[in-house]
Amino acid sequence: MEMKKVTVLGAGIMGAGIAQCAAQAGFEVTLRDMEDRFVENGLTTIKSNLDRAVSKAKMTADEADVVMDRITGTTDLNMAARDADLVIEAIIEIMDVKKQVFRELDTVCKKEALFASNTSGLSITEMASVTGRPDQFIGMHFFNPVPVMRLVELIRGFVTSDDTLNMAKDFVEKINKTAIEVKEAPGFAVNRILCPMINEAIFVLAEGIAAPEDIDNAMTLGANHPIGPLALADMVGLDTMLLVLEGFHKELGEDKYRPAPLLRKMVRAGYLGRKSGKGFYDYTK
Ligand code: 3HC
Repeated sequence: MEMKKVTVLGAGIMGAGIAQCAAQAGFEVTLRDMEDRFVENGLTTIKSNLDRAVSKAKMTADEADVVMDRITGTTDLNMAARDADLVIEAIIEIMDVKKQVFRELDTVCKKEALFASNTSGLSITEMASVTGRPDQFIGMHFFNPVPVMRLVELIRGFVTSDDTLNMAKDFVEKINKTAIEVKEAPGFAVNRILCPMINEAIFVLAEGIAAPEDIDNAMTLGANHPIGPLALADMVGLDTMLLVLEGFHKELGEDKYRPAPLLRKMVRAGYLGRKSGKGFYDYTK
């Protein structure tokens, strides 16, 4: 099957980034979210990323228009998915919500369509099990900011076929990224390593060992990371960080994955990082 149409579910930071990359690679893309305002936000993010690329002379205004024209925004799942060759789900990290969406998709999509989830670490096998096509289901984990980050983790569920894996690899190559194959395990490879480090940085902050800027300087200047762990948490979203860490704690059962109480408190206070204007840093000024 030649892949032409890609549907991305979820127009948040990750979904918009994935839609942009697919459109830049020439795919016809539909970006779907539950409400018009979420769809609009996603399209605005993509437009401003493309405008920035134009202002840096990385593409022409005409090229940016062509990319934008390849993307259709909608709230209608049926319309979004019925012709798709590949559906990439990038919605909230809650298993029951994801399963419900995949159940619906299974009835809407054509039988040869592939399903992919951008989950940060939930079980691909469990999501695939609610569809009639678990062999055509794969984990396709992107990194934030998607247009910049070059890696995609590909995760096979229990019965994902070789054909599905090969088509997913081909798609990743077409969007100019590098795929690594990772076995199904909480957090796969990157988040299993990265998220406990970020969590530890939050413990270091909560214990009063160092101030946020100093913790971030510690890791940028002392370990050559491109960005400090607290600034990175703000970029990813503290709510997402919390869901990922809760998932690790539950699945792996070890206290070393316990989310820092400060993280939980900040999420409860609505301090979600860049997207809410405040996190470990203030983005409203
Ligand atoms: N969207 C699109 N492009 C962006 C962007 C965004 N949100 N933020 C930055 N960029 C682009 C800039 O336009 C610039 O492009 P150019 O090189 O073509 O001019 C390039 O990225 C570099 O940006 P800046 O010069 O403004 O800033 P930095 O050099 O500080 O780079 C960064 C920004 C790329 C975000 C860098 O800080 C970085 O690599 N940070 C680490 C990111 C990371 O670890 N991501 C993984 C998070 S974990 C995850 O996503 C998994 C999930 O499951 C939780």
